[in-house]
Amino acid sequence: MIKSRMIIMILIWGLLGQYDAYADQPFRLEAKEGLYQFPFFDTQTPVWSYNDQIPGPLIRSKVGTTLVIDFVNGLKEPSSVHWHGLRIENAMDGVPGVTQDPVKPGEKFIYRLKLEDAGTFWYHPHFNSSEQLERGLKGVLIVDEEDKLPWSRDLIWLMDDWLLQKDGNIYPQFNTGRDLMHDGRWGNVPTINGKFQPEFSVKPGERIRLRLINAANARIFSPNIEGLSADVIAVDGRPVTHIFPLDSFVLSPGNRIDLDITIPKQSGGKTFTVEDRFTRRPFLLAKINIDQSASAKTPEFLPPTEANFIPAALFDNVQVEKTWDLNAIRGGKYGIGWTMNQKLWPNADKVDYPLGVPRKIRFKNSSSRLHPMHIHGVFFRVLERNDHKAVEPFTRDTVLVGPRESVTIGFLPEHPGIWLTHCHIQEHAEAGMMTTIEVMN
Ligand code: C2O
Ligand code: CU
Repeated sequence: MIKSRMIIMILIWGLLGQYDAYADQPFRLEAKEGLYQFPFFDTQTPVWSYNDQIPGPLIRSKVGTTLVIDFVNGLKEPSSVHWHGLRIENAMDGVPGVTQDPVKPGEKFIYRLKLEDAGTFWYHPHFNSSEQLERGLKGVLIVDEEDKLPWSRDLIWLMDDWLLQKDGNIYPQFNTGRDLMHDGRWGNVPTINGKFQPEFSVKPGERIRLRLINAANARIFSPNIEGLSADVIAVDGRPVTHIFPLDSFVLSPGNRIDLDITIPKQSGGKTFTVEDRFTRRPFLLAKINIDQSASAKTPEFLPPTEANFIPAALFDNVQVEKTWDLNAIRGGKYGIGWTMNQKLWPNADKVDYPLGVPRKIRFKNSSSRLHPMHIHGVFFRVLERNDHKAVEPFTRDTVLVGPRESVTIGFLPEHPGIWLTHCHIQEHAEAGMMTTIEVMN
C-alpha cells in the first residue's frame, strides 16, 4: 500500500517536474552531468543539467515571497546561478568574480531571492557560460502575480537550439573562431522545453497565456503563429505600456515575451503551426493542435499594462552620458576579442552611477554582427535607434543592437550594487564583451 502510494507520488512528481514555492522552504538545485534522449539517435546524449531535467525544473513562486535556493555544484568545474531579469540583492546575482566567488565542484551556495516583480524570468550559470548553457544548464522561473488572472492555460516555452553531431554528442568545441567571427554558436536542432518540434493540445475557446523564453546561446528567434492572433502583453517579464500584436517580434537570447491568445471557438480539429521567421529559411518550431472537444468558455478580462513604469518622459532632459562602442579586435583568449570601447573584460570600460538619477546610455555597434545587450538587475526603455526617436511601448532587460546600428536606452539606477552588462550571445561575452554598471548607495 505504502509502496504503491510512493510510486504514484514519484510519478506525479515526475509529471510536474516543477517546484511551487509558495511555502518558503528551500529548493535544492543541483547542476550535474547526465544523459538526455533526443529522438534522432539510438544512444543518449551526454548533457549537463539541473536536477537531471532538460530544461531545468520550473521554479514558480509568488511576488513578495523570498525564494531560497540551495544550489549544489555537482559538475567537475566551478559554476554559479544567475537569475536573469530579477531585481534582487546584488550579492544574489550569481556572477563569479563580481558578486560572489565561483561555486567549486562539490560546494554549495544558498541564493535568497526576494521577489519584487511578477513575470517570466529564467536562470542559468554565469561561469564558462558559453559551454555550461550549451550543455543544457538553464531553466524557467515564473513569479506569479498577487491576484492570478483566469487564463484557461498558462503555457511556458523555453526556446533553445543545440549543435549536435551525427553520433548524438554535443559538438565539443566551444568559442571557436567560427562562433566568434559570426553571431556566436547557432545550433542545428531547435527545441521547445527540450523537445524537437513538439505538439501542444488546447481546446477551442481557451484563452492562453503563452510565455516564450529565448534561452539559446546565440540564435535569435522570431516566432510566427500562422492563423492565430496573438497579442504581446509582457516583454522581459514586465507588462507592456500598451498591448500590441505579435507580428514579427524579435526575441534575442535573454528576451522573453508573454502572449495573449484566444483559440477560436470554431477551430476544433485544426492545427496551427508556429514557425521561426528570423532567418531567410523559416522552420517549424511547434504545433498547436485544437481538440475536437466542446468549446471552453473564453474568460474575459484585460491583462494589466504599466504606463508609468520607467516612462520615456523621465529622460526628456537627460543627455547621453555613456556610449559603448561595440566591435571586434584581434587578440584576447580566443584570438578574436569582442570589445566595449576597445576594452576586453575584465579590463573593461566600467561606469558608476548614483542611485535615483535617470541615465541615457548608447550602444553603438560598429561591427557587422548582432549584439543583444543585457543589463543585470534593471529594466530599461529603448528611446532612440540610429539617433531617431523610437520609444518602445515596453521596458526590457535585453536589447538587440543590429549591425552598424546604435540604440539609446534610458534607465533609472534603483538598486545598489555592481551590475554586469554584456552581450547575451554567450560566445561574444566570453570573448570579452562585458562590463559593469556600479550603482552607488
Ligand atoms: Cu542571462 Cu548575464 O545574463
Ligand atoms: Cu554580441
